[in-house]
Amino acid sequence: MITYEVDKKLSVEQYVDLLNRSTLAKYRPIHDKKAIGAMLSQAQILITAWDAQKLVGAARTLTDFLYIGYLADLCVDTAYQKRGIGKKLTEATKKCMGPNAQLLLIAAPEATHYYPKIGFREQTNCWIIDQATAIS
Ligand SMILES: CC(C)(COP(=O)(O)OP(=O)(O)OC[C@H]1O[C@@H](n2cnc3c(N)ncnc32)[C@H](O)[C@@H]1OP(=O)(O)O)[C@@H](O)C(=O)NCCC(=O)NCCS
Repeated sequence: MITYEVDKKLSVEQYVDLLNRSTLAKYRPIHDKKAIGAMLSQAQILITAWDAQKLVGAARTLTDFLYIGYLADLCVDTAYQKRGIGKKLTEATKKCMGPNAQLLLIAAPEATHYYPKIGFREQTNCWIIDQATAIS
């Protein structure tokens, strides 16, 4: 049975291990301990999924709890994927944010066909500026 926790503290090592087991590691700064530490300590919502003591999924969100939230990481251990865990993590995140807040995200290439299945609408008007790009 999978259980879910809200805002349970994780160590950098636990989180990096899950990122590796889910494959999301290739898109996250797993070798930068300071960045991973900040990702954990500065997120407003961290939902985790557990198989007994084993961490098997996580959803990490930055939000103001009223207007908007950014689902910054959603990941499920590959051995536990396609069992509804990602959907439950997203539902729990939305519940924490409250009924009036919208949730947005940047999909990993492998997950672009996932989000419409759980209710997300594709947008063509989102913009991003990369780390090395100056405002011109
Ligand atoms: C994407 C991810 C979070 C989905 O979690 P999950 O627990 O496997 O997904 P769910 O079980 O909630 O799936 C819900 C539905 O989406 C489908 N689905 C799951 N992963 C999918 C994918 N990558 N592409 C398309 N459909 C997918 C499931 O088959 C299921 O469909 P069904 O209701 O018709 O059976 C998980 O596969 C993962 O961690 N992937 C690697 C990391 C990643 O890409 N994360 C997203 C970062 S933006």
